[in-house]
Parts: sequence; C-alpha cells; structure tokens
Amino acid sequence: MKIFVPPIKSQGIKTKLVEWIKSNAEQVDYDRWVEPFMGTGVVAFNVRPKRALLCDSNPHIIKFYNSLKSKEITSKIVKKYLIKEGEQLLASEGKHYYEIRNRFNENGSSLDFLFLSRSCFNGMMRFNKKGGYNVPFCKKPNRFAQALVTKITNQVENISQIIEKGDFEFKNLDFKETLKNIDSKDLVYCDPPYIGRHVDYFDSWSEEEEIFLRDGLIDANAKFILSTWLSNKYRTNDYIFSVWKEYSISTKEHFYHVGGKESNRNAVYEALLSNVKLNDSISNKVMQSRINTNQSQLTSNQNKTTLPEQLSLKL
Ligand SMILES: C[S@@+](CC[C@H](N)C(=O)[O-])C[C@H]1O[C@@H](n2cnc3c(N)ncnc32)[C@H](O)[C@@H]1O
Repeated sequence: MKIFVPPIKSQGIKTKLVEWIKSNAEQVDYDRWVEPFMGTGVVAFNVRPKRALLCDSNPHIIKFYNSLKSKEITSKIVKKYLIKEGEQLLASEGKHYYEIRNRFNENGSSLDFLFLSRSCFNGMMRFNKKGGYNVPFCKKPNRFAQALVTKITNQVENISQIIEKGDFEFKNLDFKETLKNIDSKDLVYCDPPYIGRHVDYFDSWSEEEEIFLRDGLIDANAKFILSTWLSNKYRTNDYIFSVWKEYSISTKEHFYHVGGKESNRNAVYEALLSNVKLNDSISNKVMQSRINTNQSQLTSNQNKTTLPEQLSLKL
C-alpha cells in the first residue's frame, strides 16, 4: 500500500501504523469518519473516507489544512516560499530559523508553521505555556536543499488532491466539543495523547479526560477505534484494563533499536481497542490473562503479517 505522508510532522505521527488501522477500518460499516485528535492527519488521508470530520485542539494544524482546502496554500506557493526562506536560512547559517519562529509566534502564518515543522529538531511539535512554538533548530542550515523542497511540495500536492476529492471538514475543537457532534453512524478514530507522557500547551492528557472520552463515545453510541500502547520492556498500560476493559483489543509489535544498537532491541506493543470486531482481536480479559501468565501479547497471526517494522529511536 502506498502511504501518503502529510507535510506537517509531529512526534505522535502514526505513519507506521496506518496500513493496520486502515485494514481494520475497512471491515466497519459507517457514514462518516471522525477524528477528535487528528494530529498530522496521516490516518484519515490514507483511510480516504467519503466524508470526514477532523478536529484538533491545536489551531495551527487546523488552519494549515483549511488553507489547503481553500487553496490559499498550494504546492506552487509552498515551493516558492521554501526556496526563498531556505536560501535565507542557509545565508544566515541557521539564524533565520529563529526569525521565522518569532514571526510565527506573532502572526501564526501556516507557511511558517510548515517551515518550522520541517526544520526543527527531530520534527517535534511543542508549544510553551503561553502557546508559543519552542522547538529549537535542527542545526542544518542547508535543510531546504532542492530534494527536500521537492519532497515537501509533492506531499502538499498529494494531500491537497486527497482533500479536494473527499468531503473533509477541519475544526479547531477540544475533544469534548467534538464528542457533542458524533452519532451512531460515525466511526470515531481516537488517538489521544498518552497520559502523563508530556505536558504541552495544546497537548496534555489526564485520566479524567480518558474517562470523559470513553463515556462520550458510549453516550453517542458511536463505533470507535482507539489507538494506544499496550506495553514496552518496562511497563504495561493499565488503563487498557480499567478504563477500556469492556473492549476488544488487537495488537501489533514494533522493535526499537535504542541508540541504534542491535543488542538494545526493545519491543513495544501497539494496541487498537474497539467496540466493533477488529481483525485478530481478542477480549480484554483474555489479554489480561495472557499478560499475567507471560504468554504472547501479539493478537495477530504472525504468519499472515509482514515482519515487524524496524524503527530507530533517536535519543
Ligand atoms: C497522538 S497525537 C495524534 C496523532 C495523529 N493520529 C497522527 O498520526 O498524526 C494527539 C493529538 O491530539 C491533540 N490534542 C491534545 N489534547 C486535545 C484535546 N483536549 N482536544 C483535542 N485535541 C487534542 C494534539 O494537538 C495532537 O495533535
């Protein structure tokens, strides 16, 4: 499957899991695809639903995609902009990054948002307590060399075409508001932040919010698929067995090479929880008993799946 990668980057991007999520979503009958936490949008842009409501509490993400939708930003405009600002970045030996960051924090330009997303440290999206973008520069003054400009321009073109061909609505909403707009004909894909993982102006998450999300999905009687993690070498995500205990679970394994060393090969189990039957899903209770008795946490039949993808964890 060809994956369309969006031009905006973020640490929680689900590019590696899109195929898995899509193959599960295809089994479900629904009228509209809803994402209360769209992030980069990579899931929706690859699932390609006929109708979608995509929301996020981060206004910059929503503004960017609405600008693609209205064609205020096109691939041609992006190319011209990146060539110009990229030349200034190189000439200033990287100092221009901080000028753009200041400018973005004053006027919130979507083109500047794209520039920062593609030239910041590790493609992170972080905002300080006042809502200001605060990620440092990746320290590559020649960042916007021709090959990357072409790549980003193509990504903007592909996603613009997907938006044009579909019926996508982008809204800057807190998930509590999005929950008020869903009903039983929707399939709601939820990818909330991980509890306690980090605190960011647009992106923090608590147990109360996780419970509010579950209750909102129940009240709306909507079908849902929720992305989360099940376990890594050190910990198990106990919220799966408390907040989400009624729902079936499907898992997929990833391997991370810590510090790039083959010997430090750590597995992490990604999970999809749902109130509809997913491919290879098992009940929550069965998974809990597997964990308690040290059995496999993998629900998929490995013979049917491709080998786990190799991810390298940048420390
Ligand atoms: C894990 S990311 C989603 C990643 C996305 N699935 C992707 O592949 O790019 C979580 C997203 O939730 C958003 N978010 C955090 N708190 C929120 C809230 N209270 N309401 C709505 N969105 C929120 C963040 O801005 C972030 O974009």
